[in-house]
Amino acid sequence: MAEPRRIGILTSGGDCAGLNAVIRAVVHRAIGGYGWRVIGILDGTAGLMRRPVACRELALDMFDGNILRQGGTMLGTNSRDDPFDPPRPDEAPGARADRIIEGYRLLGLDALIVVGGDGSMEIARRLAEAGGLNLIGVPKTIDNDVALTENSVGFGTAVDVATEALDRLQPTAASHSRVHILQVMGRDAGHIAINAGIAGGADIVLIPEIPYGVAGIVEKLERIERQGRNFALVVVAEAVVPAPDAGAEPDGGRRCAGIGERLGALIADRTGAEVRVTVLGHIQRGGAPSPRDRLFAAAFGVRAVDLIAEGKLDRMVAWSNRDCIDVPLEEVVARYQAVDPEGALVRTARGLGIYIGT
Ligand code: F6P
Repeated sequence: MAEPRRIGILTSGGDCAGLNAVIRAVVHRAIGGYGWRVIGILDGTAGLMRRPVACRELALDMFDGNILRQGGTMLGTNSRDDPFDPPRPDEAPGARADRIIEGYRLLGLDALIVVGGDGSMEIARRLAEAGGLNLIGVPKTIDNDVALTENSVGFGTAVDVATEALDRLQPTAASHSRVHILQVMGRDAGHIAINAGIAGGADIVLIPEIPYGVAGIVEKLERIERQGRNFALVVVAEAVVPAPDAGAEPDGGRRCAGIGERLGALIADRTGAEVRVTVLGHIQRGGAPSPRDRLFAAAFGVRAVDLIAEGKLDRMVAWSNRDCIDVPLEEVVARYQAVDPEGALVRTARGLGIYIGT
């Protein structure tokens, strides 16, 4: 009798809610559906570099019903150590990539499922090309910036968290007659900011895709005051950039570079308002996944395994038009999914009178 197939799964890049739900779906489909073996690789591609390879075989009975609901990733992850970064002084060129490829071979894998964001997909694809790995991608990231899919696992939960933060900030803003700024993540994309900003009733939403002007912000706050409202809510994505004539120093840059605080000081200075700043940070990544994220995770995990069964490789599972589809990884890594400055959400924000930049 032929040996059952062996597939690997790893989570790579920043964690988010719903990763465990993907792993669970893969295990259910691969073991329960096809009778395969599933090897969970620890700490992303870093696990494939260790010797022995850092991994644990996954079994159906590890998924007792609780793991679906848990944040984080039971396999661990790694968002550093790109194997294609320039070699360290003590390293031969390509040594890290070769070691990862060797790790895949040592495990005797027939295919590898990489649950990652755009950066991880690109690395995985380069590894697959270099070493002939059989690869399937599953998109996950709170940033929702992976191309060719309407949704990545983890995004919805992050939007829920940011919206809840606005729900909690609004009463205190109104009680104290303050301007509250909420700084959210998203790396170079403003998806979390615009989704939560609209859902949470923000007055100003600043996203990296649309430069902002200080005059526009001040004008909006003054209008709110003239209308008799005593508070305002501002959402700012971590990597926003001012317009060249914005009247603000160039700032932004990813990773909580303090844009919220700088904007707060500027608003206080220009308007005299009392301002408070909340940096939401990694709270957006933790906690239980939302029902929608669990559904995406389930559909993606099942489809990823089915693709391997069908011999359809070098693909990423994706969500489009209410369906779980698959798209070429080559095309995914060649594109980026920013907020469309002419798209429905920006038009909606403008239609609601939200200041969203110049
Ligand atoms: O890509 C996910 C993300 O949470 C971004 O929104 C954020 O800029 C970054 O990761 C934070 O990374 P780290 O976990 O390394 O601080």
